[in-house]
Amino acid sequence: MGGLRGIKTIRDFELDGKTLFLRLDLNVPLEKGKITDETRITASIPTIRLALEKGAKVVMASHLGRPKSPEDTQFSLEPVAERLSELLGMDVILAERPDSEAMKTILGSLKKNQLILLENVRFEKGETENSDEYAQKLAGFTDVYINDAFGASHRAHATIDALPRLIKQRGIGLLIEKEIKMLDQLLENPARPYVAILGGSKVSDKIDVIENLIDRVDAILIGGAMAYTFLKAKGLPVGKSLVEMDKVNYARELIARIEARDKTLLLPVDHKVTPDFNSHNCKSTAGQGIEEGMMGIDIGPQTVQQFTAAIKEAKTVFWNGPMGVFEKPAFAEGTFAIAKALAANEKAFRIVGGGDSAAAAEQSGYADKMTHISTGGGASLEYLQGDKLPGLEVLRERIRN
Ligand code: 3PG
Repeated sequence: MGGLRGIKTIRDFELDGKTLFLRLDLNVPLEKGKITDETRITASIPTIRLALEKGAKVVMASHLGRPKSPEDTQFSLEPVAERLSELLGMDVILAERPDSEAMKTILGSLKKNQLILLENVRFEKGETENSDEYAQKLAGFTDVYINDAFGASHRAHATIDALPRLIKQRGIGLLIEKEIKMLDQLLENPARPYVAILGGSKVSDKIDVIENLIDRVDAILIGGAMAYTFLKAKGLPVGKSLVEMDKVNYARELIARIEARDKTLLLPVDHKVTPDFNSHNCKSTAGQGIEEGMMGIDIGPQTVQQFTAAIKEAKTVFWNGPMGVFEKPAFAEGTFAIAKALAANEKAFRIVGGGDSAAAAEQSGYADKMTHISTGGGASLEYLQGDKLPGLEVLRERIRN
């Protein structure tokens, strides 16, 4: 995989008076134009500040959501530009035209207290097509390229891949450096016991990461809807809970493999169930099975106790995926209890994978107690499952014989 080998960081470059293209992941959740979680913005600030301290003319770029065209104005980075401006105490100019000439004009009159944010790079179809033509336009005003968009580094898109190919001076920012160092600690010699907590709705989303973890961890704790596929594989009744029928055999085989390796697999021993996903009513089951007409929506109190006990013993923990439908307060107890258990084990190295689990940790109120919460959902899983991230590979200097 290579970690950070052969990759320069922003610290390595002379930036005074240079135009720096800074790819960030400012893909934040928005509701009615308001940012509901600004973690990715605040996580980008140290690199932006360092670039400014080093005297660079900073051109920031990011995607937001998955717009089909520039007419999808709900995907404008305008609210992000406003927030960045408040946080940095500087003018953030939102540049709508990324072509070289327009940018050269703006750059020519850029003042000391100003920096530029390109409008959503996915408004250009060349971005997701990894187009050279689009990358050339951006390269036309770029002296140094820095990627600090960890959450987007698994995408071979133009501002992640095609552009840095055209720029000699290229490297990563402080956020990616930290993310990779943290994830590498899970891959290389983690302190034991090493416990992985996996949740979320689908086994199919997690197969590769489970395959990679199975030989590295001492215990796997499975919650969330994916647990029902495992219970089905054990022959237990699961009512009308979500089950991936085409993954039941895989789950059965996985249970056998984990047992054969003498590792611990903890599945929920009780559940919170409801007759109707849209209701707020739920009750705990007496045991591991779920009666007909009911669906599991969270882990139950006995399971919380067992999982908490396992987490308490751990020296390394990786958590990815909620234990239930935590977005609804009535079904959030199990997920928040796991966050609390992680928070309490202060001596352990505790990493929370991005996406839903990061949001769950945040909402639980325990986020600042974790060792690290990744800003990348897909990117952190792909890295942990041993895949190469295009956004890192393109920056690696190859050592030639
Ligand atoms: C994310 O939110 O995981 C990243 O910003 C990548 O977004 P994408 O899945 O739309 O490429």
